[in-house]
Amino acid sequence: MIHLPKAVMTAAVYAGELGGTAVVCKGTMDGIDGEVALKISRHSSGQRRMYWEGELDKSKQLSEVLPNVAAYHSMVEVEGNEIFPSFGMEAIHGFPILDRNIGCLGAREFNGMLTEKAARQLRTNLETAVQAGWNPSDVQYFLLLEGQSLNGREHQGGDIILFDFASWNKVTGQIEYDVSKPVERLSQYMKK
Ligand SMILES: Nc1ncnc2c1ncn2[C@@H]1O[C@H](COP(=O)(O)OP(=O)(O)O)[C@@H](O)[C@H]1O
Ligand SMILES: [Mg+2]
Repeated sequence: MIHLPKAVMTAAVYAGELGGTAVVCKGTMDGIDGEVALKISRHSSGQRRMYWEGELDKSKQLSEVLPNVAAYHSMVEVEGNEIFPSFGMEAIHGFPILDRNIGCLGAREFNGMLTEKAARQLRTNLETAVQAGWNPSDVQYFLLLEGQSLNGREHQGGDIILFDFASWNKVTGQIEYDVSKPVERLSQYMKK
């Protein structure tokens, strides 16, 4: 039996969107001061646990490479539940934008917070990832509405923070990913 740090939920689902594979809620965990976000699998099984550990590992690797990313802590046991694999990460406070849905989002003001800075940061992060051998996929990022310190860096309102690296992959050889596409989609959305 492995003993994982224990975590407690302090609120129900975090944000509007329920992930395809997970629920993410506010919580606390042993060894970490203050609030964390807990990503809890909606499916059980040993295979699922390996998948979840793999996702956490990828997220940790990316948090060492990308400038705009949260810190990822460890696998946790949430509320004594050993069935559904879970990990703890820094909680991001902002508005989640999914590249795959951006065309469906209505026009929004974001108090003037969504600017070309966000598009520039998205480009920089995706280029950095590709240079480090990562193939981005299903790109998702928060728009911060106010300043927040994440992964040891101070960020301002209007900055973006990438999250959910479940479908990203580290590859050897040429990466075909076209960074301009999601950047262009964000820029188009801003003009709406
Ligand atoms: N670190 C975080 N802090 C706050 N909310 C988060 C965090 N990570 C994810 N969320 C919220 O939870 C939702 C689901 O998380 P996500 O990682 O995308 O799950 P899935 O792999 O199921 O798509 C996200 O769309 C976002 O709203
Ligand atoms: Mg997701």
